[in-house]
Amino acid sequence: MRRITIATMGAVLALGLAACSGNGAGSSDDSTASAAAATGDVTVGVAMPTQTSERWIADGNAVKAGLEKAGYKVDLQYAGDDIPTQQQQLDQMITKGDKLLIVASIDGTALATQLQSAASAKIPVIAYDRLINDTPNVDFYVTFDNYKVGVQQATSLLTGLGILKADGSKGDAAGPFNIELFAGSLDDNNAHFFFKGAMDTLQKYIDDGTLVVKSGQTTIEKVATLRWLQETAQKRMEDLLTSTYSDGSKVQGVLSPYDGLSRGIITALQNAGYGPTIAGGMPIVTGQDAEIASVKLINDDVQFSTVFKDTRKLADQAIISAQAFLEGKTPEANDTKSYDNGVKVVPSFLLNSDVVAKDGIQSLLIDSGYWTKEQVASGQK
Ligand code: BGC
Repeated sequence: MRRITIATMGAVLALGLAACSGNGAGSSDDSTASAAAATGDVTVGVAMPTQTSERWIADGNAVKAGLEKAGYKVDLQYAGDDIPTQQQQLDQMITKGDKLLIVASIDGTALATQLQSAASAKIPVIAYDRLINDTPNVDFYVTFDNYKVGVQQATSLLTGLGILKADGSKGDAAGPFNIELFAGSLDDNNAHFFFKGAMDTLQKYIDDGTLVVKSGQTTIEKVATLRWLQETAQKRMEDLLTSTYSDGSKVQGVLSPYDGLSRGIITALQNAGYGPTIAGGMPIVTGQDAEIASVKLINDDVQFSTVFKDTRKLADQAIISAQAFLEGKTPEANDTKSYDNGVKVVPSFLLNSDVVAKDGIQSLLIDSGYWTKEQVASGQK
């Protein structure tokens, strides 16, 4: 495998950082003069799933800004979480002659036809954050260590309940604690990795009775949330409270894989009289993505934690990989065994994530320039 040169990586990283510095998660700085190489009229198609979650807006903006600074044109499309729309957008990118595709899929199994056309036209495809399944025509995958994200969510639930201490050693609380489990959208490959990482971590505490999933709903099929919709999670939490906790018992922890779901879950709990804060009876609720509304809830002691995945770094990695392909090289993978898409193991570049509870907001989110102190206080961008 040929490697892209350190010099190229350095240059692209510098461009990426310039694009990101001081601008928070959702914006980019276009003032830097374009460092266009001799890339001519090369357009990169960037297909993103939805604008309802702020992470995808941040991802799209960061990928676009970085590619433009590297001298490429960018065709950035959002599909409103509608599968046929995303298929159509990809078809159009291929027809228009885009030279490379970066795709964050909605349904990871629904794009095989489009990717076959891309392969026939010799257009490399990079799966962005979410793996694309059931096709040989995905060339590279940039993402976070998704199994580890699930481990982090579950570990944080255990820490919040006091079963573990912050350093990972045994905590003082013995339980039993009532918990409920939520997972993401079944057609998103990541949802399975998150849930598996979480369940591998929680299972021994369920087996020894420290944790009790009082509803009995423990399979991913039972606890999944189609399209990761906040209102769907809120409705399921409301149903659980009515069906399982109307005997006066309380739910003490909720495994949630995404901040949007966490907010729906918290709303259902608040409407049922839980809270207002963790000290006041709000269960330990986890999350993911460090969305600003949830970071405020964490700062206000309502949500316990989130998992921060720095989308700026993911965008940088996508740009490095795209540039390698466009220069006729092969991007450098750091994992060549974890992501089997049903047809082949897709070479991947995995990034690390961090758990953020209240005490980590300053060091991980504010000091890194992802959010400002004012944004955390207001809960708005
Ligand atoms: C992403 C998460 C995100 C979720 C919902 C997943 O594929 O990895 O970061 O929370 O989709 O948008």
